[in-house]
Amino acid sequence: MGQTDMEAVVAIEALNSKSPWSENQFHQCIQWTQVMVLKNTVVGFAVVVEVVDQTELQNISLHPDHVGVGLGSEFLDTVIERLPAQINQIYLEVRVSNFSAIRLYSKAGFAEIGQRRGYYATEYGREDALLMSRSLC
Ligand SMILES: CC(C)(COP(=O)(O)OP(=O)(O)OC[C@H]1O[C@@H](n2cnc3c(N)ncnc32)[C@H](O)[C@@H]1OP(=O)(O)O)[C@@H](O)C(=O)NCCC(=O)NCCS
Repeated sequence: MGQTDMEAVVAIEALNSKSPWSENQFHQCIQWTQVMVLKNTVVGFAVVVEVVDQTELQNISLHPDHVGVGLGSEFLDTVIERLPAQINQIYLEVRVSNFSAIRLYSKAGFAEIGQRRGYYATEYGREDALLMSRSLC
């Protein structure tokens, strides 16, 4: 991701997230953010933060015009393929109600390793997070 991608990334985040990241948050993560580009247009992004030999997928999001046709799976596979060789485990958190994301991650080989009770805010109270992980060894 470069600075020129910022506007598109912030717009996709605003369309998709119930508590969207600010532009400043993306600035702080710019080195960890990859974009998916189709016909010169940014259609998605993923934020993957590396710490020594582990990594956390903090966010992955596609423009609503491009969901449900396999691009999420393709993008996630590419992001994982590009991780440095020393990374041996990848973690993420996802809302228990986010069925498309849970399906995406399960298909990509992630398994549930725990839950965080009331981790996310919703309009109706709090919502649990699933913790998922995949070994890359
Ligand atoms: C999550 C997201 C990236 C998935 O991308 P996508 O391109 O729609 O995913 P794919 O088309 O590759 O589909 C992956 C799997 O999820 C399934 N899926 C897609 N949308 C679904 C839905 N609404 N409900 C249930 N399953 C769904 C697909 O059928 C596919 O499984 P299958 O191959 O067994 O049929 C995309 O929906 C998105 O950007 N969502 C909003 C942001 C978000 O929630 N990000 C995750 C934060 S943790």
